[in-house]
Amino acid sequence: MPSGLDGVVVADTEMSHVDGEQGLLWIRGRTVRELASCGQLEEAMALLWGGEAQRWVARLAEARVRVWPLVQRAPSLAQPDATAGMRALLAGLEGAQPCELVAAAGLFVAAFCGRQQGREVPAPSPELPHADDLVRMLHGAPDPAKAKALGRYLCTVVDHGMNASTFTARVIASTGSDATSAVVGALGALKGPLHGGAPGPVLDMLDAIGTPERAEAFLQAELAAGRRIMGMGHRIYRVRDPRVEVLEEAISALSPNPRLQLAREVERAAEEVLRRHKPDRPLKANVEFATAVLLEAVGLPREAFTATFAAGRIVGWLAHIDEQRRTGRLIRPASRYVGAQPATGAPPPSSPRTEPAQA
Ligand code: COA
Repeated sequence: MPSGLDGVVVADTEMSHVDGEQGLLWIRGRTVRELASCGQLEEAMALLWGGEAQRWVARLAEARVRVWPLVQRAPSLAQPDATAGMRALLAGLEGAQPCELVAAAGLFVAAFCGRQQGREVPAPSPELPHADDLVRMLHGAPDPAKAKALGRYLCTVVDHGMNASTFTARVIASTGSDATSAVVGALGALKGPLHGGAPGPVLDMLDAIGTPERAEAFLQAELAAGRRIMGMGHRIYRVRDPRVEVLEEAISALSPNPRLQLAREVERAAEEVLRRHKPDRPLKANVEFATAVLLEAVGLPREAFTATFAAGRIVGWLAHIDEQRRTGRLIRPASRYVGAQPATGAPPPSSPRTEPAQA
């Protein structure tokens, strides 16, 4: 049995399909590029949740206005890490509607950034689309180009097969627990550096490298020290993650960005050192590599990168929670006992099935 459940199918889903050999990502019948090009999270909500995008613009805006007083006063805004702060806020929203959870996640990012910069954050608008409003709140004034870039990002990361956080959400939903608990559990899984916690460290790495000619020596030293190169490698993809190109296009649509040039050079060097390090395993750039450059260009601090990822992925989690409730049953795998046997002479367990089905 694979120790990380590689290749194990745990659910039938209509939400998204990842082909790691060909580098494809479909989200409910659309390619990730098609979905991202619309640049509105509400389009992804309509796709994954059903209904009309325009209707979701209005409902999400109303939800932002409703939850803003709670977000604005959240004690967890003072946490140094936005993901931990968002986790505490969402955990307090027991019984919230899915739309309110999405609204709260986005607003938390805006409020966290305002507080970090010592700035008053304007109240949400009851009319704007989500990404436009968050950018307005982040910068104190509308910025359509940055709003489009953020919207494209949120759509690009909205869903991605049975990734660790989505699986976590489905496990919790499968027990009959509530959506808030499932979302909070998923956020905990996303926070880890092997999942959604990588883009901040990617930016740290680009800072530390500074200029392209220093890349190879830096990356080799990282591997020699037993560290992984952040933003590189993926459980499913054996080619470049298709989301990287989609995000690069969104970055290029903003003003010229020297970071993007550096990131491309570092990626090339990283591919090369990883090819020598693991000749049998293709390790290419994953979504976090480009995420770091895009979110910096939108004006977000690196402490808020993973929380911003969550502000998009939460739509996918909620779609999976609903699907799990409608079509799934309790997710309860087995383990193989490899511990000590009791001294009483009981017969040794013969297979994982000897474990009780419930505990
Ligand atoms: N840098 C260095 N080595 C890497 C690596 C990386 N970025 N990614 C994988 N490897 C190596 C592992 O050390 C492992 O070597 P081993 O067989 O000698 O132990 C081998 O490649 C396979 O790695 P494994 O962890 O089993 O693969 P996985 O499918 O579980 O890994 C990730 C997927 C994403 C966890 C992994 O590529 C990684 O840690 N990347 C860096 C963190 C990151 O970018 N996270 C965001 C993911 S979207």
